[in-house]
Amino acid sequence: MRHLIDPLDFTVEELDRLLRLGEDIRREPGAYSESCKGKKLATLFYEPSTRTRLSFEAAMLNLGGSVLGFPSANVSSVSKGESVADTIRIVSCYADIAAMRHPLEGAPMRAARFSRIPVINAGDGGHMHPTQTLADLATLQSRFGRITDLTVGLCGDLKFGFCGDLKYGRTVHSLVNALARYEGNEFVFISPEELRVPGHLIENVVKPAHIPYAEVTGLEEAMADLDILYMTRIQKERFTDAGEYERLKGSYVLDMPKMALGKADMAVLHPLPRVNEIA
Ligand code: CP
Repeated sequence: MRHLIDPLDFTVEELDRLLRLGEDIRREPGAYSESCKGKKLATLFYEPSTRTRLSFEAAMLNLGGSVLGFPSANVSSVSKGESVADTIRIVSCYADIAAMRHPLEGAPMRAARFSRIPVINAGDGGHMHPTQTLADLATLQSRFGRITDLTVGLCGDLKFGFCGDLKYGRTVHSLVNALARYEGNEFVFISPEELRVPGHLIENVVKPAHIPYAEVTGLEEAMADLDILYMTRIQKERFTDAGEYERLKGSYVLDMPKMALGKADMAVLHPLPRVNEIA
C-alpha cells in the first residue's frame, strides 16, 4: 500500500504516467466513468477548503465512486478529543482511500502510519500540498504543450516567479520540490523579508539542483522576464502575531498595471480573489 504525503513520493516516470492518464480522462471522461465503481473516498478536512476538497469529491464521483467524510474538525469526534490515529483507524473501516487536510505539519504522515487504507495529503500546515502540485504540473503541461516529452522536459527552460507568502506557502514548497527534478528552469522568489522562502528549501532543494534563482521583495521589478507567475495568499491562519499579518496582508496585489509589466503570454497560476471581491 502506498500513500501520497510528499510531492516526491511519485517518481518522475510515475508522474509522467499519471499526467498522461489525467489528460486521457479529461479527453474521454465516459471511458472512465465506472473506474472506481464500488469504491469509497473519505475526505477528512480539519481546515477549510473549497478547491481541494470539492475537486477530490468531484473526481471520485466522476469515476463512479462514492464519497464520505467531514469538511471541518468541529463536525467530527475530533472536537471530542479523538486523535488523528484513532480517526484514521475508524475511517479505514468505512472507506477505500482517504484525503486529509490538517493545520499541523506532518498530520497526514502520522495518519498514514496507523491507516489500513492509502492516505493522500491534501495540505498540511505550511508544509506540503502534493495534489495541488499535481494540478499545477498538469496545468503547466497543458499550457506549455510538453505532454509528449514529460520525463525529459516538463516545464524546462521556463522562468518561474513565486510571489507572496513563501515561508508558509505549502503549494510553493511542494511545487519547488517537484520542479527541481526537471532541467532548465529558473526561479525568482518574490516576498516580504519576513515571509522569505525557507532556507532549507534553498539549501536542500534549489542549490543541489543547480537552479538559477533570485530573491527579491518587489513584484514589479521581477515581472518583465517571467514565463509563469505563481501567486500565494498571505495566510492569516499561520500568523501568531495579528499585527504582523495586518502589516503584510496587502503586500502583493496583482492588478492590471502590474500585469501590464509582464510578458503578454505569461501564465498566472494559483491566484486568489482580493478579499474585498470575495463577498
Ligand atoms: N489551493 C487550495 O488548496 O485551495 P483550497 O484551500 O480552496 O482547497
